[in-house]
Formats: sequence, C-alpha cells, structure tokens
Amino acid sequence: MFYSNGFNSKRFIARRETFGLLVYDKKRAKIFIAKGVYSLDGIDKLVFADEKGERTRIEVSEVTLINSNLDLPKDFLFSPTYVEIYPIMNCNERCFFCYVGNSLTHRRMEMSGDIATATANRIGESGVLTTSILGGEPFLYNRLEKLAVNLHDNNTKVSVSTNGTVHNYELFKKLIKIEVGFNVSFHSHIPEIQNKIVKNSIGYNKTVATLKFLLNNTSTEYINVSIVANSLNYEKIPDTIRFLHEIGIDSVSIYHAQGAGFSVTNNLSRLGYFAWLEMMKEAISIGKELGVNVRSVTNYPFFVEKELGFSTDLGLSNFLYGTGDGRRTLYINYDGCIYPTSYNFPDNRLLLGNVIRDSILDIWQNSVILNYIRNASVPKDCKACRFFDICRGGPITNYDLSKYLGHKRIEPNCPIHSKNCIE
Ligand SMILES: C[S@@+](CC[C@H](N)C(=O)[O-])C[C@H]1O[C@@H](n2cnc3c(N)ncnc32)[C@H](O)[C@@H]1O
Ligand code: SF4
Repeated sequence: MFYSNGFNSKRFIARRETFGLLVYDKKRAKIFIAKGVYSLDGIDKLVFADEKGERTRIEVSEVTLINSNLDLPKDFLFSPTYVEIYPIMNCNERCFFCYVGNSLTHRRMEMSGDIATATANRIGESGVLTTSILGGEPFLYNRLEKLAVNLHDNNTKVSVSTNGTVHNYELFKKLIKIEVGFNVSFHSHIPEIQNKIVKNSIGYNKTVATLKFLLNNTSTEYINVSIVANSLNYEKIPDTIRFLHEIGIDSVSIYHAQGAGFSVTNNLSRLGYFAWLEMMKEAISIGKELGVNVRSVTNYPFFVEKELGFSTDLGLSNFLYGTGDGRRTLYINYDGCIYPTSYNFPDNRLLLGNVIRDSILDIWQNSVILNYIRNASVPKDCKACRFFDICRGGPITNYDLSKYLGHKRIEPNCPIHSKNCIE
C-alpha cells in the first residue's frame, strides 16, 4: 500500500549565504541557489538554479527561511549543510570495506537520550539542511525513533542509512510518517556476492525484503539504494541497477570506497580514476535508459566532469563539490562529540566540541581545527592536477592532517595518487 503524508510541512528550507539563498528541496533532495536574493519579503515566487544550472520556480509560501538577519562569513558557508550522526557503533554485519572498522565491535557505544535531544537541538539552531543517521546499524539503536522525531521537529531533512537486515517494520512505519528518507545499502543483485561483501549468509534475503517493504509502504522519493563500488561488485553494477529498477527502485547512489577502517586493514583495492569514470558513465547511461537516477558519491571532484552532467559555472564549487570537510559537513559521534572529518574519526586530537555545551555555529565559524583544514597545504602532485581548483586537495586534507597529527601516512586517499587501485 502506498503511504505518504505528502508535503504538508514546508517543502523548502532556505538560508542566507553571502552569495544568495541556499535552498534545500526536501521532495527532490536537491540544493538550489538563488543568486542575489537576500530576502523573501514582498516576493511570491523565486527562481532558482540547481547544481546543473537548471531553473525552477518556487512558491514563497512553501519556504522556511532560516538566519535572515545574521552576519555571514564570506569564505565559507554560514554553517554545515549536512551533518552525519553516529548514534550506535554496534552492527550485525561486517562489510569488508566498512570505514567504521573495529569500532563496530564496541557494543555499548550508544547515544543517550539527553545527547540525542541536544544533538537535534544544535542541528536545528544552526540551520543544517540535511542530517543522516548512520552507525553501526541504526536499526539496532533503541532510541532511533526519538532521535529522528527530534531532528524532524528541528526542521532538518532526516535520512537513515541502513543495511536493511533488521525487520522492525513498526519502527519503519513510524519513520515513514515523519518523512524520513531511507538509504538502503545493497551492493550486489547476486546473492553470493552481496552475502560475501557483508559477511552475512542471509544478508541478501533480508535486505531485499526490506526494500520490498519500503516500496510497498512509502513513496519511491524516500528510498535510495547505496552501492559501494569494490573489487567484487564493480563489473556487475549495471546489472544491479537493472535488478533494482525491476523491483521498483528509481534512485541509486554509487560510493567510491574511502580508505579507512576495514578497507585499510583488508587492503581493499579501490577503483582508480579511469575505472571509476568508466563504471559511472555506464551506470548513469543505464540509469537514464531505465529512468533510474544514478549519482556518483566521492570525496573527490570527479563528479564535476562534464560527461557526468555537472556544471561548475555557478561559482559554488568550493562549497558544494569536493570533500565536505571544513566546507559543508560535520560529524557527531554517539557521545555527542563533534568532529570535522570522517578520516581519523573519532580522534580526540580533532575534537571540535560536544553538543551538550557547544553550538555548531560557534564551532563552524571559530574552530582553529576547521580553519586549519580550510587552509590545508597540499602535496606538490596535487598542484599539477587538473581538478585542483575545485578539489583544493580535497582528500589531501587527510594528507595534511596526517602531518598535523604527526602520522607518517603519506597516501592521500585519492585514486589519482593511490598505488593500490583497479584501473
Ligand atoms: C558505515 S554505514 C552505517 C549504516 C548502515 N550500517 C549501512 O550499512 O547503511 C554508512 C554507509 O557507508 C557505506 N560505507 C561503508 N564503508 C565505506 C567505505 N569504505 N567507503 C564508502 N562508503 C562506505 C555503507 O555501505 C553505508 O552506505
Ligand atoms: S557498512 Fe554498515 S552494515 Fe556494513 S559493517 Fe559497516 S556499519 Fe555494518
């Protein structure tokens, strides 16, 4: 049965930035920009350009405006657009590339009720447009509903990333009622490959059952499938997209595996630049043919490639493209601690503060560590890279942070430089 309570709540969340209004469309999960528009007063329609430069008209009555009278920083966004919350570390699967790594075994690392409330309030007061709840497996976290409801009440678009193996359908229904988006991780339509990747002999059946439940109980605009491309699945990803289309999925994100946690300890071969680009081109083309929206998700700026359909003409690439660290993203751990990056996460030398005592806005605008990341130096190889202007070393913040932290690690975690890649 189709269930949706529609978009009775305001559909667009808008906030001021020095370059204009930054608007998030909850329905289409897209960010729009209105250059030169600083107020909604006296206007009943606004015209926005999205990342592709396409224009759309928005009824002002549908827009919730945040921060109308604040001083705004010029060189970086007023606050993060996106926050990731890790309320639980425990997981019932062990994906061989999982960046959370050994922290998954920490069974008692769960967010308390007080921290969940403070997290949601901090996110609300700082105008964060979208928030994702991850982990570990969020459906093993027993305050998931409370956290999601608090976030929803704080006017941020909430999504939950799940492996889809915990069949708590009552909880799913409660989340559906508050318009939560579901990112279901599913890496292959071939059962043996999916089960091998997640190290769970019944993982495939469980996750497919969850996808079918969601398709029967919420609108497809709230369902996205996340695939992490890796050595076991990347050649068959087009067939996985076909399978997903056949069961009714119309939105797929393909992630470039980041080098952290198990992907490092398992010595995972990540896709190099050319293998990634070829795979993405084919996946996007199959998606177009079938009507499935296929997106590329990387810490790197490959998705600004013209053939992948993105434009850098809006002059906002510094904010919206490349790695999010210091530019648009923050990370909150189960204990309320706030970090700038998912690399070295959670490392207390990079601790920015805690939701119980610190405001996200204050951290974002004044943190010495974030400032360091924003001005990080880069290895000389990167300066010759044709993506440098947009990337600014992107993942090299990791490289630079390794100097900051006194590590000897010199691999910049970028496929252009990585030595252990599939080409
Ligand atoms: C760490 S998981 C936690 C939430 C949940 N357990 C799940 O699997 O969706 C969050 C997302 O990160 C993805 N992921 C895990 N390891 C990754 C890596 N090394 N690089 C990129 N994405 C990764 C997962 O597939 C999932 O989509
Ligand atoms: S990716 Fe998700 S399901 Fe897989 S081990 Fe990590 S937390 Fe668990």
